[in-house]
Amino acid sequence: MDHRRSRPPSAAPAGALLLMLSPATAVDGCPAGGERASKQQGRSGRRHHRRHEVEEQLWVFGDSYADTGNLGNLGRELTHAWYDPYGKTFPRRPAGRFSDGRVLTDFVASALGMRTPVAYKARWRASREALARGMNFAVGGAGVLDTGNFQRNISAQIDLFQAIHRTQQRGCAKRTALVVVSGNDYAYAADKDNGTSAAIAYIPTVVRELRGQLRRLGDEAGMRRVVVTNLHPMGCTPVFTRPLNYTGCDPLANAGAAQHNAALSSVLATLDPNNRTFLLLDVHTPFAAFLLNDDNNGGNGNKKFKSTLRPCCESFRPDGYCGEEDENGTRQYTLCDDPGRYFYWDDVHQTQLAWAAVARTFRAAVKSFLSI
Ligand SMILES: *[C@@H]1O[C@H](CO)[C@@H](O)[C@H](O)[C@H]1NC(C)=O
Ligand SMILES: *[C@@H]1O[C@H](CO)[C@@H](O)[C@H](O)[C@H]1NC(C)=O
Ligand SMILES: *[C@@H]1O[C@H](CO)[C@@H](O)[C@H](O)[C@H]1NC(C)=O
Ligand SMILES: *[C@@H]1O[C@H](CO)[C@@H](O)[C@H](O)[C@H]1NC(C)=O
Ligand SMILES: *[C@@H]1O[C@H](CO)[C@@H](O)[C@H](O)[C@H]1NC(C)=O
Repeated sequence: MDHRRSRPPSAAPAGALLLMLSPATAVDGCPAGGERASKQQGRSGRRHHRRHEVEEQLWVFGDSYADTGNLGNLGRELTHAWYDPYGKTFPRRPAGRFSDGRVLTDFVASALGMRTPVAYKARWRASREALARGMNFAVGGAGVLDTGNFQRNISAQIDLFQAIHRTQQRGCAKRTALVVVSGNDYAYAADKDNGTSAAIAYIPTVVRELRGQLRRLGDEAGMRRVVVTNLHPMGCTPVFTRPLNYTGCDPLANAGAAQHNAALSSVLATLDPNNRTFLLLDVHTPFAAFLLNDDNNGGNGNKKFKSTLRPCCESFRPDGYCGEEDENGTRQYTLCDDPGRYFYWDDVHQTQLAWAAVARTFRAAVKSFLSI
């Protein structure tokens, strides 16, 4: 394996968009808005769902902000999310989420009134009812382009969906895609080339490729709705704020995120001028409100997060990682008492409470877009 140990296969980021497509046509006896999946039957041959019943499905593509266990356990150093202290809030043990608890996928599913879809990697253990809700293909470290590790890029994740979908049955489904691209393409470019400006040079390439994949989800993969996140202010992640002693954000990285977001918005506007198929899930605005607002970073005790730029779980060494242990099993990181008072969990990822706060800002928009 190759790998870049210092950068968790999880760094996040990117955005994207796209759109188009002819929304929702009634097919084959399915109510308008449902799509007829292939035909039939499960292993037992028993038909499980009534013919015209429309199922809500959520299919997720993306990176560690959305991963719920797809990056397998390849050892502590490479896959931190399977080791303490990850998962301590939920599910109270490390289980593959890059957080102390729930991540974006969980909150989007909840906005839809659904349970979190099964992780692709856990599909063999899933019940048929669980499989009927869609699946999560997102994997920590993935990008739109290849990111130098072993993770499936977005296009390869969509290939998996198509392969599974072809063999699936049931009558009608209302399929929603969630696409979460949080910046791994840029983190990789910055590592490989020379810093943030080199990463910024990749924006047109990343957005163009993302646009192609979004279009594919709408046109070819038959998603009824496609929800796409934009890029959070990357310069405020602890990986950037630590060298500044957690006193501020990196302006160049934030300018890059803004540039990516502008490109993404314009792609969407071109592809779906009436906002029928694609919804831009704006995570940038709520992140910025928490992270760039001085009130949140100052010292008074009365704010939602005690700390926004310093993570709850902080490695001793700048190039160490949350969860690191020495050869004797001694922790090489400090852990805060209450992750609920911190926005960031580790050097790149949010706490459950941060995601919950961000999700409150988009819940109504997601619900209403998907209920049309
Ligand atoms: C995505 O991954 C697939 C399979 O590894 C590869 O063929 C393809 O070139 C990758 N796409 C991009 C844009 O890097
Ligand atoms: C890398 O960037 C630094 C400052 O950003 C610059 O001084 C240096 O010349 C660059 N090196 C290369 C190989 O581009
Ligand atoms: C951060 O703090 C260290 C130690 O207090 C100091 O040496 C360093 O100059 C500070 N760096 C910045 C960017 O403020
Ligand atoms: C579509 O959404 C964008 C961004 O949210 C918004 O600026 C635009 O006005 C919307 N267009 C229509 C026709 O509602
Ligand atoms: C680990 O424990 C051994 C034996 O007690 C000790 O010699 C060694 O220095 C320890 N290593 C570290 C990194 O503390």
